[in-house]
Amino acid sequence: MTLQALEKRAAALWHRLEPPAAPLTAVEVARAGGLEPDPWQRRVLESEAPQMILLCSRQSGKSTTTAALAMHATLYRPPSLVLCLSPSQRQSVELYRKCMQLFRALGEPVAPVIQTRLELELANGSRLVALPSGESKIRGFSGVDLLLCDEASRIPDALYQSVRPMLAVSGGQLVLLSTPFGKRGFFHHEWTEGGASWERTKITAHDCPRISAAWLAQERATIGDWWFSQEYLCSFEEAEDQLFHDHDIDAAFSDTIAPLWAPEAMQP
Ligand SMILES: Nc1ncnc2c1ncn2[C@@H]1O[C@H](COP(=O)(O)OP(=O)(O)OP(=O)(O)O)[C@@H](O)[C@H]1O
Ligand SMILES: [Mg+2]
Repeated sequence: MTLQALEKRAAALWHRLEPPAAPLTAVEVARAGGLEPDPWQRRVLESEAPQMILLCSRQSGKSTTTAALAMHATLYRPPSLVLCLSPSQRQSVELYRKCMQLFRALGEPVAPVIQTRLELELANGSRLVALPSGESKIRGFSGVDLLLCDEASRIPDALYQSVRPMLAVSGGQLVLLSTPFGKRGFFHHEWTEGGASWERTKITAHDCPRISAAWLAQERATIGDWWFSQEYLCSFEEAEDQLFHDHDIDAAFSDTIAPLWAPEAMQP
C-alpha cells in the first residue's frame, strides 16, 4: 500500500472515530455553497417525491439545485449511491464540479476514500458518480438511491429505459432536469403524458430573479423567437422549416427491419 493510500485510510478511520456532525437538510447544503435558494429551488430541495421533472430555462439554477440534492444524499443519507447522468463528458464534469464545490464548502464533513475527476466515495459508504451518456459502464450500476439526468432532453431514449430499472429495488429518487429539445424523446413524453407519478416544476427565465428583462429582450433580438422560446420560455418547439412532426418521424423508425446494407459494406 502506498503512503498516499495509507494516509487516506487513516483519515477515513479518524473520521469514523469522531462523533458525526448533525445532519444538514438539502436546503442547508445549498446555503453552504453561498447562495439562498429561490422559492422553487427550496421546494425541490425539500420534496420527497420519488420522481421529479424540472423543466427550466437556461441559467435558472437547475444544476446548482440538483448538485445540492446529490451532495445531501451522499453525505447525510449513507450509504447512498448517487448517479449524475449527462449527455456529454463536459456536462458530467460540470455537474460533478458543482457537487465538489459544495463538498469543500461544507468542510468535507466525511472523509473521501476515493476521489477522481468524476467519482467520490466516502468513508460513510456513499458513492457519487458522474457519467456521460456514452459511458459503457453505465449499465453496471444497481441499487441507485438518487438518479439525476441533467440536460435530460438530450439523453438518448434507450439509455433512459436502461437506467430506470436501477431504481426498482432501492426505491430511489429520479430527477430529470432540462431545457426542452423538440416534441420528442422521453423528456417530452414524461412531461406531457407521464401521468401523476411525476412532480413537475416549470421555471421560465422570467421566473428567475437573476435574469433581467433587459437582457432577455436583447437575447431574443439576437437569437430569434424560435431559440428564445426553447431556451428561455421552456417551450417544446418543432423545427421552423420541418415538413413532418417530430412524433411522425419517430414513429417511422423501426428496430425490427434489417438494414439493406450492413454497416461494414458501406466502408470505402
Ligand atoms: N439561488 C441562487 N442564488 C444565487 N445564484 C444562483 C442561485 N441558483 C443558481 N445560481 C447561479 O446561477 C448560475 C446558473 O446556475 P446553474 O448552472 O445551476 O443553472 P442551469 O439552469 O443548470 O444552467 P444551464 O442551462 O446553463 O445548464 C450559476 O452561476 C449559479 O451559481
Ligand atoms: Mg445546467
